[in-house]
Amino acid sequence: MSRAAEYETVAAQVTTLIEEAPSFVAALASTAALLNDTFEHYFWVGFYLPEEDGSLSVGPYQGPLACMKIPVGRGVCGAALERREVLVVPDVHAFPDHITCDSRSRSEVVVPVLRDGEVRAVLDVDSDRLNAFDDSDRTGLVTLAGLLADA
Ligand code: SME
Repeated sequence: MSRAAEYETVAAQVTTLIEEAPSFVAALASTAALLNDTFEHYFWVGFYLPEEDGSLSVGPYQGPLACMKIPVGRGVCGAALERREVLVVPDVHAFPDHITCDSRSRSEVVVPVLRDGEVRAVLDVDSDRLNAFDDSDRTGLVTLAGLLADA
């Protein structure tokens, strides 16, 4: 199955999970588990949640232990949040303000989960391979963020 087709399958499953989820965090946790179990090029997948001071705290995730707090505007996650845009970073060591939670991480995608302009979460996926993410990852993850925005 192509990566794009796998994302379509995951999106259908996430739609059902959201219907059944007793809370937003339950929906995020189940989505992270499903993504981790589906994609072999993932090394870490999870969500950061906004705090009142604008920093991010780690939420549900799958993979190695990660940074628990991301200061305001820092790292790929902070940049994606400030710009309200998707960031695909083919080589994290070339991203000036990348925060290294695990030195094995080589490339990354960050997608803000926005509802009415408000950040509900930040979806973060890391790979231990350089340039691991393509347009199908971007499109697939944006679709999932859209589903979770209304969860
Ligand atoms: N590398 C991210 C931090 C989070 S971890 O990758 C799990 C960043 O620069 O925002």
